[in-house]
Amino acid sequence: MSISKSFFGKLEDGTEIDLYTITNKSGASVSLQTLGGGIQAICVPDRNGNLADVVLGFDAPKYYMDGDLGYQGLLVGRVANRIRDAKFSIDSTEYHTPNNQGTWTLHGGGRFSFTPWEIKEMSDNSVTFKKFSPDMEDGFPGNFTLTAKYTFTEDNILRLEYTVLSDKKTAANPTNHAYFNLSGNPAETVENHYLKINADFFTETDECQLPTGKLGAVHGTMMDFNEMHKIGEKIDEPFRAIIDGIGYDNNYCLNKQPRDFTEAAVLYDEKSGRQLSVYTDLPGIQLYCGGWLAKAGNPGKENGSVTFRRGVALETQFYPDSVNHPEEFPFEYVMPNKEFRTVTEFRFSVK
Ligand code: BGC
Repeated sequence: MSISKSFFGKLEDGTEIDLYTITNKSGASVSLQTLGGGIQAICVPDRNGNLADVVLGFDAPKYYMDGDLGYQGLLVGRVANRIRDAKFSIDSTEYHTPNNQGTWTLHGGGRFSFTPWEIKEMSDNSVTFKKFSPDMEDGFPGNFTLTAKYTFTEDNILRLEYTVLSDKKTAANPTNHAYFNLSGNPAETVENHYLKINADFFTETDECQLPTGKLGAVHGTMMDFNEMHKIGEKIDEPFRAIIDGIGYDNNYCLNKQPRDFTEAAVLYDEKSGRQLSVYTDLPGIQLYCGGWLAKAGNPGKENGSVTFRRGVALETQFYPDSVNHPEEFPFEYVMPNKEFRTVTEFRFSVK
């Protein structure tokens, strides 16, 4: 294993953004950027050994900071996904978080994704990013430190370990927002990718994609991915939990004890033979197929002008808006001065 550092680009205020590339013996590599502690590239082989980049993104850091471009590859904190009415309570104290979309908070307001992270540690196969957020920043309680350690292995596993430490009881729901396109060609729609999700239920949502607190059964609906099949097979079926024209953007409730570490989902591209299996110790996973991304004129890596349905995000998480459903949903608060940990693995292989 080896690691190299390079200059990725500058933000408008002059901040330099670095890229750390971890390469294994076979030549497969993962490139991580200090902006948003994000995944900038993952180059893994197809069934003939040809390496290609399997995540969407951009060639310059500034694009990653635009929320409308979809948080591509970035870490998300403090609390990923939606918070209804941009507020929640802990032990009867109400906290108000940024109202950065509709009437709700999306992805904690974006700060963790759109600002540079420090490097805490590094080895020949790992990079640990660190981000500190002071008490009440963006309305969240607690002097809060999030670290994210990425480790890449000889057998093409990208392991992502998060730790959270806070001096007050608080909420955390960190995730990574990579969009995978296993074909290695960002011009190809992911409707042709096969997907399996080990979940019998999803979180029901209202017309703003905010959880109602109820779970819906996937059985007999377009939501069912228990048997592996093409994402595009039913993506445009009308269904109450889907916004017309957008397709999947839903949280699945994984079939397991909430904090067991198990296989959540498998994504497969038949043509290249590349397969991705996602493991997590969190209870949920957001399936988002890039339905809100641009149909034309988007910046991107090569052929990036279209991003609509060109990547599949598989965001491991506590269910969205768990802070407002701590009883109905499996959720854990971060307790004062007690380290909270969670692990997700992206395991790449060929078939
Ligand atoms: C959300 C989408 C959103 C995307 C990018 C996903 O987690 O569910 O609705 O468009 O993130 O912000």
